[in-house]
Amino acid sequence: MPIPDEFIQELKQRVDIAEVISSYVKLKKQGRNLIGRCPFPDHQDSSPSFSVVRENGYFHCFGCQAGGDVITFIRKMENLDYVEAVRFLAQRAGMTVPEDDTANSMSKLRTRIYEANREAARFYHKMLYTPDGEQALSYLRGRQLSEKTIVHFGLGYSPRSCYELVNHLRKKGFTNAELIQANLAVQRGQGGVRDRFSDRVMFPIIDVRRNVIGFGGRIMSDIKPKYLNTSDTPAFNKSRNLFALNFAKDHAKGQLILVEGYMDVIALHQAGFENAVATLGTALTPEQSKIIKRYAEEVIICYDADQAGQKATARAIPLLRTAGLQVRVLTVPNGKDPDEFIKSYGEQGPGRFRMLLEKSGNDAEYRLQKLREKYNLEITEQRIAFLTDAARLIAGFDNSIEQDIYISQLAGELGVEKAAIRQQVSRIQRINSKEDYKRQQREIQKNLSAVSDNINREKASNLRAANAEEALIAVMMIYPSAADRVFRSLPPERFVTSFNRKVYETIRKRAQEGHDYSLTDISGEFSVEEVSRIAKILASHPRENNPEQAAGDYIRILEEEASRLTPEEIAKADNDMLLQCINKLKEKKK
Ligand code: UTP
Ligand code: MN
Repeated sequence: MPIPDEFIQELKQRVDIAEVISSYVKLKKQGRNLIGRCPFPDHQDSSPSFSVVRENGYFHCFGCQAGGDVITFIRKMENLDYVEAVRFLAQRAGMTVPEDDTANSMSKLRTRIYEANREAARFYHKMLYTPDGEQALSYLRGRQLSEKTIVHFGLGYSPRSCYELVNHLRKKGFTNAELIQANLAVQRGQGGVRDRFSDRVMFPIIDVRRNVIGFGGRIMSDIKPKYLNTSDTPAFNKSRNLFALNFAKDHAKGQLILVEGYMDVIALHQAGFENAVATLGTALTPEQSKIIKRYAEEVIICYDADQAGQKATARAIPLLRTAGLQVRVLTVPNGKDPDEFIKSYGEQGPGRFRMLLEKSGNDAEYRLQKLREKYNLEITEQRIAFLTDAARLIAGFDNSIEQDIYISQLAGELGVEKAAIRQQVSRIQRINSKEDYKRQQREIQKNLSAVSDNINREKASNLRAANAEEALIAVMMIYPSAADRVFRSLPPERFVTSFNRKVYETIRKRAQEGHDYSLTDISGEFSVEEVSRIAKILASHPRENNPEQAAGDYIRILEEEASRLTPEEIAKADNDMLLQCINKLKEKKK
């Protein structure tokens, strides 16, 4: 519902702009005006460029050119939308924003809930310092939270007895109905109520207008559920709020860190990363993404490294991008969550996390930007060249989610299909890993050159072919989906070395008869030494992103090798035969 114009006018008359601004920045009188250093975080004002004209009710900064009335000031300063800023100022001036009747009673209830929650938060916090709360306090200290952090976040303890909060709030004048609406209490039998939270460490959830809107409560043992959260109430909606946004918004500087848990947020804030927020026990929603966009241009997702966390990351990325945010992904090493990571390094924790933060795509972003500057993207050829270089860069990232982000970004920027870029990246990756593999093989080969290969005696004189054969065997056994086409198109005669040919014949025969052909399935047909040789082939093969394509590449190598004569054949061959072979090779090259 729009707020009536008369109300806005009255609000502006009642609120003294100079007084409001003075609570953010020191103002000095200069002639008719008041001046000070610009308080907006995106402007580092070294000289006082910010001036306020009290009588006319406006401000202007000669440095960053920001200016407007008191509502504009609060919107910018508190990162609020228009209506929220009006409410913020009205609350300050003791005015009630007019609303229609149902809205009005709803808003009254909401206000009561805020009041009850605030009182509850105070109560829980105080409980921490009573004998009943001793265990909770030592739990928090045990998790290495400082006194300052405990107070800053208003952490608390909900007592085991299920009536203490209810009794306390009833004494303060709240009705049972209000406590139930606030989800601080639940119905118990006829007419009675009891506390919703009992024997838990309490995390108050505070919105950007500093209302306490709900709680998360963590159990101190392994009993499930680990966290109990306030259910949705007229004052609380899980999908439209974020934990610690009340603090983080003032430290965002265009960037927020999105983590999974309350404890992660708190540990990060304590370590100096005060721009961390978390969802409230649910997956990220589109609404939350839009809210984040109000405060930041960029989000760093820093979810747990486990599978659930990776899945949640993959789901969050498109939502955040749709909201217009840049996304970076930070993967905490060794399967830790951010809280555990920081703690595990003691004093070095914050520094280490800062390093992860800086590395998370930042470097990539920077290098991609540098690359972009080398090309004129208006020209098609240069666009293609840029794309090729960029694909090479992306292929070097070891985080596939991160890869995906930049592939999407490039696709959008250059108007190219995402799939096409992805394919290019996979191709480069395969070549890279194959080169690593070849280098490794050469190394191994060198070390083993003195030792003869008892299993595959032909390998030494047919290295390239034998390596391709082994790679092909590995691909087929590791990625059976890539094998069918090979079985159909590649006759066993193409194999140069007889051991590898035997392996291929065996798996091909089993496949054609509809059997599986894993190492255990085929081990009966080989000697123990041979089986361990096959195992080695499988174990030393690099990961393939596109096994079908890889198989095709290895087959091509085999074909090339087949048209090459062995040294003995060359010695024996006549001129015609040699010419034929050379022509064949030339044709392949084209
Ligand atoms: P985590 O299990 O990662 O919790 O759940 P955490 O914050 O790291 O807590 P500690 O370190 O074990 O104490 C991540 C978030 O998922 C929600 C909470 O918001 C939690 O912070 N959650 C988790 C629930 O709402 N209920 C649960 O039972 C568990
Ligand atoms: Mn944790």
